[in-house]
Amino acid sequence: MKGGSWSLQRANPRSSSYLFITLLAFILFAAIFIFHPHLHSNQQTQTLFFSTPLHVASSNTTTLTQTQRDQEGGCDVFQGRWVRDELTRPLYEESDCPYIQPQLTCQEHGRPEQEYLRWRWQPHGCDLPTFNASLMLEKLRGKRMMFVGDSLNRGQYVSLICLVHQLIPKHAKSMETFGSLTIFRAKEYNATIEFYWAPFLLESNSDDAVIHRVTDRIVRKGSINTHGRHWKGADIIVFNTYLWWITGSKMKILLGSFKDEVKEIVEMSTEDAYRMAMKSMVRWVKLNMDSNKTRVFFSSMSPSHAKNIEWGGESEGNCYNETTPIDDPTYWGSDSKKSIMQVIGEVFGKSKVPITFLNITQLSNYRKDAHTSIYKKQWNPLTSDQLANPASYADCVHWCLPGLQDTWNELLFAKFCFP
Ligand SMILES: *[C@@H]1O[C@H](CO)[C@@H](O)[C@H](O)[C@H]1NC(C)=O
Ligand SMILES: *[C@@H]1O[C@H](CO)[C@@H](O)[C@H](O)[C@H]1NC(C)=O
Ligand SMILES: *[C@@H]1O[C@H](CO)[C@@H](O)[C@H](O)[C@H]1NC(C)=O
Ligand SMILES: *[C@@H]1O[C@H](CO)[C@@H](O)[C@H](O)[C@H]1NC(C)=O
Ligand SMILES: *[C@@H]1O[C@H](CO)[C@@H](O)[C@H](O)[C@H]1NC(C)=O
Ligand SMILES: *[C@@H]1O[C@H](CO)[C@@H](O)[C@H](O)[C@H]1NC(C)=O
Repeated sequence: MKGGSWSLQRANPRSSSYLFITLLAFILFAAIFIFHPHLHSNQQTQTLFFSTPLHVASSNTTTLTQTQRDQEGGCDVFQGRWVRDELTRPLYEESDCPYIQPQLTCQEHGRPEQEYLRWRWQPHGCDLPTFNASLMLEKLRGKRMMFVGDSLNRGQYVSLICLVHQLIPKHAKSMETFGSLTIFRAKEYNATIEFYWAPFLLESNSDDAVIHRVTDRIVRKGSINTHGRHWKGADIIVFNTYLWWITGSKMKILLGSFKDEVKEIVEMSTEDAYRMAMKSMVRWVKLNMDSNKTRVFFSSMSPSHAKNIEWGGESEGNCYNETTPIDDPTYWGSDSKKSIMQVIGEVFGKSKVPITFLNITQLSNYRKDAHTSIYKKQWNPLTSDQLANPASYADCVHWCLPGLQDTWNELLFAKFCFP
């Protein structure tokens, strides 16, 4: 959270006034040209701007790369470990938040223990600021905040509402859904927190807010404005997209329109297709968000836990019956594709658009215990085969609320309120 300290200690005292002027010029230069402060991977910018010995001085600007801050005693809040904390966790009770969808209310659906509620994320280099709902709401006063993406982003959205709603009296808040858009209103704050369903960000054949389980997924190239026009005017946007790209085969990309009688479809590797969407998103942000007045966040992939052999299990199991986090600090599940993380790094590395990256993948990878598993509303009656083998219908993708996603919001809060 801290920006590091101003330091001239490496300078030669004899040339300090010359140095000071050079320094000022450099800082101005850096402040003008470095537009994305929060990413590790901006190799180009770093070599361009930080390869001179003067770089120590730039630590007081607000335009440092994350790596730069880390080197200078800052803190990467995404690197850390889970610690048990029965005093301060959970941040709210499941029964105190009426906004949680029945797919995520694990206690209500019979989860027999509450161990997953007792963990706090502890970054290695610093402490996270305590989530302050009042400050969060003040920061949102008069603003529109919008989460855009898939059901995992919807989970984070609901978590945020659960974290703030108790400060708002009943008559002064509401939640309504209009197709792909859900709007929570905090009337006294003249603020909204919204969720927009767009699992690929681009237009796709999975865009229906309710009926979207399409096996043969098709994404339309160059179509960001199809959904993007509904995001205009938002002051804060939190994007995610990942899971829907992982189909096990190549992605089908539509070149024309979904209305064309004969559709022109090309196949692309998952990575290339994902890169295309990321670039579209960055371009949309550049054209539609005023970086002086707005904030944009992007969450990395949310891991799933479908194969317990990956964390030392022995059978055909998955997240079902898991009650403790993984304590191997190097654990990384195969569901979180490193090649996609690399694409994210590359796209943001080249972009000059300030998008704050929420790298929640590693910390969530440890949490095999935090999924909804079998403790959620089932839309269809379970078969006797399923009942005989609960792991077969466990949901190892989504997360119980309260739970892990509250931590994503603690991280969002830290980056939003203490940039
Ligand atoms: C560096 O930043 C700190 C904290 O924002 C501030 O107190 C200090 O005056 C700054 N130093 C200079 C030289 O601008
Ligand atoms: C929370 O934020 C409010 C500002 O909205 C502030 O007055 C209050 O002191 C903060 N509480 C804590 C515990 O920091
Ligand atoms: C409420 O917020 C909107 C922006 O979201 C702004 O245009 C409007 O003027 C605000 N109204 C009041 C009464 O502050
Ligand atoms: C943002 O602010 C800077 C400095 O105040 C100004 O030079 C720039 O024109 C502003 N950009 C936009 C898009 O308003
Ligand atoms: C769940 O795990 C416990 C020990 O962690 C084990 O004793 C029990 O048999 C497991 N239950 C099922 C249904 O796998
Ligand atoms: C996100 O964090 C992981 C592990 O902490 C790291 O390997 C990865 O490079 C980071 N991603 C980016 C784009 O910086």
